[in-house]
Amino acid sequence: MPYCLGYLFMPSPFYITTAIDYANGSPHLGHAYEKVLSDVISRHMRMSGRKVHFLTGLDEHGQKVQQTALKRGVEPQALVDEIAAVFKGMLGDLNISHDDYIRTTEPRHKKVVQQFLQKLFDQGLIYKGQKTDWYSTRQEQFLTDKDRDADGSWPEIYGEVTQTTEENFYFKLSQFQPWLVEHIKSHPDFITPRFRQNQVLEFLKEPMNDLCISRPKSRLTWGIELPFDTSFVTYVWFDALTNYYSAVADKGFWPADVHVIGKDILSPPHAVYWPCMLKALGIEPPRQLLVHGWWTVNNQKASKSSGNATNTLSFADSHGADAFRYYLCREMVVGQDADFSTTTFENRYKADLGNNLGNLVNRLLNMVGRNYAGAIPAAAADEELEKNLRQLWSDSIKKYNEAFADYQVSHALEALWVFISAMNAYIEARAPWKLAKSTEADDRARLDSCLAHVAEGLRLVGTILTPVMPATCDKLLTNIGRPVATHFEGELTWSAACTGSKVAEKCILFPPIEAPTETPSA
Ligand code: MSP
Repeated sequence: MPYCLGYLFMPSPFYITTAIDYANGSPHLGHAYEKVLSDVISRHMRMSGRKVHFLTGLDEHGQKVQQTALKRGVEPQALVDEIAAVFKGMLGDLNISHDDYIRTTEPRHKKVVQQFLQKLFDQGLIYKGQKTDWYSTRQEQFLTDKDRDADGSWPEIYGEVTQTTEENFYFKLSQFQPWLVEHIKSHPDFITPRFRQNQVLEFLKEPMNDLCISRPKSRLTWGIELPFDTSFVTYVWFDALTNYYSAVADKGFWPADVHVIGKDILSPPHAVYWPCMLKALGIEPPRQLLVHGWWTVNNQKASKSSGNATNTLSFADSHGADAFRYYLCREMVVGQDADFSTTTFENRYKADLGNNLGNLVNRLLNMVGRNYAGAIPAAAADEELEKNLRQLWSDSIKKYNEAFADYQVSHALEALWVFISAMNAYIEARAPWKLAKSTEADDRARLDSCLAHVAEGLRLVGTILTPVMPATCDKLLTNIGRPVATHFEGELTWSAACTGSKVAEKCILFPPIEAPTETPSA
């Protein structure tokens, strides 16, 4: 079959993207969180039987990169090459399973940006105009009076704001406003969580301006040249947004199923510019924008100058990438803001992971080793306690899956930990260490059942939790004598799969951290 025809017969993969990070600083908590969240969703989808295409990357053009390169006396390309290596290093450290990494300086990307621009220009949707406007160098954007604070001053985020008269190219964004409002209203899942949609619709109550999509080379050279006028480069947002399409242009994966982004870049870039650009080009919009909130560190703004948000990444080193992944997913309710602190991190590490999960595994290995020569017994007695535990698993996995269907990973984990806590309560209630001392046949049957149930419960937990803590779950499953989990189908219902499995002698999933962890400076 000819190569391209193959796509016609293959179901298109679940296509998920993250925002592409600015190549103008070090990776930090916000970048890490978004990659982890997207990775957990990707792994979960793969284990659910979907083919997945997971894209992330780096946003490498623009004034700030040009300025930093100039300051450091290096070529912008050399600078972004260096930064790309650091950002990719973070992905490795966090065990991110992306399928592709796009950099906006790559030819495959530039080609598509220029095709988009040319097409819009040919359709008469890009025109040249002159404007005198307020311009923020820091944000690389023109401002209007709407952007001022109530007292008339410019918000701090814009830095120095100056008046500039400039000839530029404009995309006729405003003509797509009625379509966009209708699209958002008729696709209630387009912007998730729902309350973010209302904010966008509120923004769209005011008439939109056309979008300036160029920068004169006299001011900025580090960008993609406009194909129809090489004395201009492309506005960074037009350039950056196109990455989602350029990375898969020849693969047939469009439209994206979900763009995972932070709330700061929802409106206007992702909720307004991007769908309108695509509409103008006759391309389907993405199916969904999944908008997460903002991390603070010790209740302080994550700031580049203090490095507080970058320092938090050291927790992945000290406590392991999986503990860090778990903490981020558990602590931030998707859509809402969250705070990172040493205290909450260590509490979750000790309580949720060490005591609740890690100790349970060791208790099991210990008891099975001591009483059954390391082979998990078959369940013999079946009393109220066992029935309740199995019922609780059914309830928890149902809640887990329902929450996950809305990408509410934190709620899913919360539901799972109800089950893990119940397993701890179950083992306390059964007191297998006492049963082991009894000579009664009933007690022996209860002991069999207790260890069989804890083993099975841990197998189920290790399976569903693999996308969140891949290496830890591989270790957990291997240590209870089971193969690592590669898929969910048939693996999430209560079974006797563990019977006879040979457990390891000992397994430390979450070693106690001796040295006091330094609080990330704020
Ligand atoms: N380059 C643009 C995105 C272009 S997408 C076509 C950009 N880059 S960024 O480096 O500033 O941010 C990358 C992602 O990290 C964004 O989704 C942003 O919301 C997220 N975060 C950056 N800081 C954050 C926090 N403190 N908390 C949570 N996420 C935040 O924007």
